[in-house]
Amino acid sequence: MAENKGKYYITTPIYYPSSNLHIGHTYCTVMADAMARFKRLCGYDVRFLTGTDEHGQKIQTIAEKEGVTPQEYVDKVVDGIKELWKTMEISNDDFIRTTEPRHVKRVQDIFMKLYEKGDIYKGEYEGMYCTPCESFWTESQLVDGKCPDCGRPVEKAKEEAYFFRLSKYQDRLLELFETNPDFLQPDTRRNEMIAFVKQGLEDLCISRSTFDWGIPVPIDDKHVIYVWLDALTNYITALGYPDEPELYEKYWPVDVHLVGKEIVRFHSIIWPAMLMSMELPLPKQVRGHGWLLLEGGKMSKSKGNVVDPVTLIDRYGIDALKYFLLREYTFGQDGVFTNEVMLKRMNYDLANDLGNLVSRTVSMIEKYNDGYVPDLTDAKEPVDDELKNIAIGAADKVEANMDEFKFNMALEEIWIVVRRANKYIDETMPWVLAKDEASKPRLDNVLHNLAETLRIISVLIHPFMHTTSDKIRKQLGLWYADVAWEDAFEFEMMQGEQVKKGEAIFPRLDIEKELKELEELQGAGKGEENIPLELKPEIEYDDFAKIDFRVGTIISAEKHPKADKLLVFQVKMGTEKRQIISGVAEHFKPEDCVGQKVLVVANLKPRKLRGLESKGMIMFADNEVDGKSRLEFMSTAAEDGNPVE
Ligand code: MSP
Repeated sequence: MAENKGKYYITTPIYYPSSNLHIGHTYCTVMADAMARFKRLCGYDVRFLTGTDEHGQKIQTIAEKEGVTPQEYVDKVVDGIKELWKTMEISNDDFIRTTEPRHVKRVQDIFMKLYEKGDIYKGEYEGMYCTPCESFWTESQLVDGKCPDCGRPVEKAKEEAYFFRLSKYQDRLLELFETNPDFLQPDTRRNEMIAFVKQGLEDLCISRSTFDWGIPVPIDDKHVIYVWLDALTNYITALGYPDEPELYEKYWPVDVHLVGKEIVRFHSIIWPAMLMSMELPLPKQVRGHGWLLLEGGKMSKSKGNVVDPVTLIDRYGIDALKYFLLREYTFGQDGVFTNEVMLKRMNYDLANDLGNLVSRTVSMIEKYNDGYVPDLTDAKEPVDDELKNIAIGAADKVEANMDEFKFNMALEEIWIVVRRANKYIDETMPWVLAKDEASKPRLDNVLHNLAETLRIISVLIHPFMHTTSDKIRKQLGLWYADVAWEDAFEFEMMQGEQVKKGEAIFPRLDIEKELKELEELQGAGKGEENIPLELKPEIEYDDFAKIDFRVGTIISAEKHPKADKLLVFQVKMGTEKRQIISGVAEHFKPEDCVGQKVLVVANLKPRKLRGLESKGMIMFADNEVDGKSRLEFMSTAAEDGNPVE
């Protein structure tokens, strides 16, 4: 066993169970799992936490639409998430759900701690609110007037709420970033956060009273705790803080919170400020990773263009998928997911490089030495040392890259060994040596060195692909020995093990055929899925019935003399002509509008827009093209003036 190097606590974000997780979420969990397994193998006492973030308006709205309670809804999705991690053999030590009593009670205790410290107060919140993201934004944070995270429209919202005095911690946060560059990595994220804090921090709204799917505020049952205080605290409530602090005392502060780039702000500003307020130690590090994108842009459950990890695991296995995710993408940067890139990696690196090395080595030992790993002889050559040095030198390089979360480079270092070993076979040509009895001592050395190198590779890949590592070890006759990281630094450990050829560890894929079949599978999945739209809160039929929709015909259109964005329409609705003003000048030329049949909200209270009266509202449909919003008339063949049923 490796010496105990101390504790290592690593977390993933807790995922929203609004629907099944996709390959982007899998990417984050796979990285955390590889790191947890690596640290365990190196002798750390690892705690690896993941879980689900189950409260909030979005979940409540989806559940209502599905006709189930929020609890029923999340229970079902969370079962699927747990099943996914089980299928993928993710090695988390705990799974926290924010609806569990252990979390709920502890969040309330934490709320009271902040409150008693004087860091929570009641106020009134007014801001721009993005319902899907459940985030309030200041005007300056909006991008083109829309939510900076998801790009959807925001609404002005105002409500009584509890606030956390985030602003009080501004200076200490800046000092944290400036004196401890390792606290937040990569540097690009750190620079962004420094700039964000320097702009000035506003106090944070931490309660909501417009929905009730949340943890009640202990001192005010009209409010539920707003999602980030509920969510971020999972990292310590799962350790039993504050009432059963045994694990907390052992594992806190966390060694690393692994998070996606869009939630770095919450983890590196809000969370440390809360901990400062509670006078608890801060996370040692927050690491922000990039997103997996599709060629058309961001994966999004609501767009229905997500890649389902289960389809890929079913076809290619867990290890091939994990290898691809860890090898292909550079930590911290966005990367584009395509089936083709994935299949090529699987074929070239796994089936060709690693798969061939395993099958050639084991077959040759079976064929030329009755299936036993030969002992070393005196028939050495310089190329042996070259191979040996590369093999025993790799573990240090893997460690150095893992320290920086450079999973892709760590794997590249291992593949340098794999490729060197394949080249060694080509150079030493064991099949030629086997023809001449006098070359037997040399052949023995070559086979021994190959077996040793493969043994080292089986150790090196263990954190990333433990099943494949086990398969290789079984073929090498090493089934009796536990994998130990320090064995990767040793050569000449093998002594007459009996090898046994097994099935190809990675079958070769017919890329063309796979591409076609995957496309069908992924396309089919998309069509069948029924993903609820994100809508404004439900209205009663009576509310709807108050609207008088009519068909109208635009008989003239011109630019508003005092506002660039407005068009002034004269609209005929049966017997009546009236003026309606719409903010659509950037979408239509006035001359293209004349003659259009349109849907009109005819009984909207008239209002003046820049001095001209507008009576009613014309309805347009938003037709997003290439990520840009483009309006269309909602045409109809019905006679103008007719009511719309
Ligand atoms: N519930 C919050 C996190 C609270 S942590 C205290 C949340 N949930 S999430 O389900 O929306 O996202 C969880 C993580 O998945 C985030 O780190 C996010 O970056 C990551 N990803 C979601 N889509 C992703 C990709 N397409 N690519 C990579 N990671 C992605 O945010």
